[in-house]
Amino acid sequence: MRSLSEELRPAGGGRALASAQTRTEVGIVGAGPAGLMLAHLLANAGIESVVIDNRTRAAIEATHRAGILEDRNMRLLVESGASDRILRHGSKHAGIDLRFGGHSHRIDFSALVGAAVWLYPQTEIFADLADARERNGGDVRFGVTDTRLVDPAGDRPAMSFTDSDGHAREVRCEVIVGADGSRGVCRSAMPTARRTFFHRAYPFAWFGVLVAAPPSAAELVYAHSDRGFALISQRTPSLQRMYFQCDPDEDVSRWPDDRIWDELQARVRGADDFALREGPITDKSVLPFRSFVCEPMRHGGLVLAGDAAHTVPPTGAKGLNLALADARILADVVERAIRTGDREVLDEYGPRALAGVWRAQYFSYWMTTMLHRAPDATAFDLHRQRAELRAVANSAAGATFLAEGYTGLGSSSG
Ligand code: PHB
Repeated sequence: MRSLSEELRPAGGGRALASAQTRTEVGIVGAGPAGLMLAHLLANAGIESVVIDNRTRAAIEATHRAGILEDRNMRLLVESGASDRILRHGSKHAGIDLRFGGHSHRIDFSALVGAAVWLYPQTEIFADLADARERNGGDVRFGVTDTRLVDPAGDRPAMSFTDSDGHAREVRCEVIVGADGSRGVCRSAMPTARRTFFHRAYPFAWFGVLVAAPPSAAELVYAHSDRGFALISQRTPSLQRMYFQCDPDEDVSRWPDDRIWDELQARVRGADDFALREGPITDKSVLPFRSFVCEPMRHGGLVLAGDAAHTVPPTGAKGLNLALADARILADVVERAIRTGDREVLDEYGPRALAGVWRAQYFSYWMTTMLHRAPDATAFDLHRQRAELRAVANSAAGATFLAEGYTGLGSSSG
């Protein structure tokens, strides 16, 4: 809704030495799922925003990210009017396979908790949200550079940046939302003395590959083996995503395709003859692995959302769901802060979001430690893990615990 933004061009109308200034109600740094969903929900409530991102739209669309959506986030996409493509192009997964001891054990979400998750790649969610902003006349600027926050704690915070056409801009905002990921400028704008960073490092990472092949299983397979963890996920009927646990500083150039297939097949092999369907590997990368939370999530006129505020290890597929949960809570809190003119309302955000964030941290940590092999693991540790996996897979209480966490039931966020 650029028309609502008042252009404050420097006097004289000639060549501007200063930045061209505009105003908006909410400035959003980062056009990922948290930032775009928030802009979309705010627009539904009649609140205007400007979203900036230093990546181009094409670069974001070329980034492959996980896309497991909890039911409530599928509904958020559809019911907010962003898009119902997920119902046609996403696939509903009513369970996962836990694989250990050479056998697959299905965790049946539908039977256990009456819920499911949706496999819908994050690039599709991005396209849906970016299209929705375009359709509704939203102001989203891709490919900006030199992004800086001006006086984020003050009464008139601003986003300063250079547009993709080379023009310096400053957008004054009532609230700035930092949704620019774990390496963005917003997290570091939280003053050191006012915030606590909670961290956990893990002694492993994920080696991720994209494979041009049909799916190897109907649902996702989370495999524990003596050689370490592997995950068999999917993207489309002809493109699959697979991961195996590796060393954090593993070098992808040491992994020709044959070696990757040997390793992946060895990690899922079992008495039931399950084997992966192989195909050309079109992408290889090592994914960082950590847990992180910033508290509080607000300082003055700046609030953090999504990965800027928290990072979870990918094992529980919670990162995207947390980003959308933040957007949902923020839409409510920011709308009230703007309508009442009382920025202190923003203080409600952290406590409402953090309960769900820590629940997801716990779930992701639990899935991670149950399934991965620590570098110093002994035979005792591997036996203990298998006993834990049996306790989860073979008991209704254990399986229900996993199903609730994975589908997001009982999350207290919101
Ligand atoms: C993925 O498809 O990339 C994916 C799926 C489930 C996870 C993590 C990643 O837990």
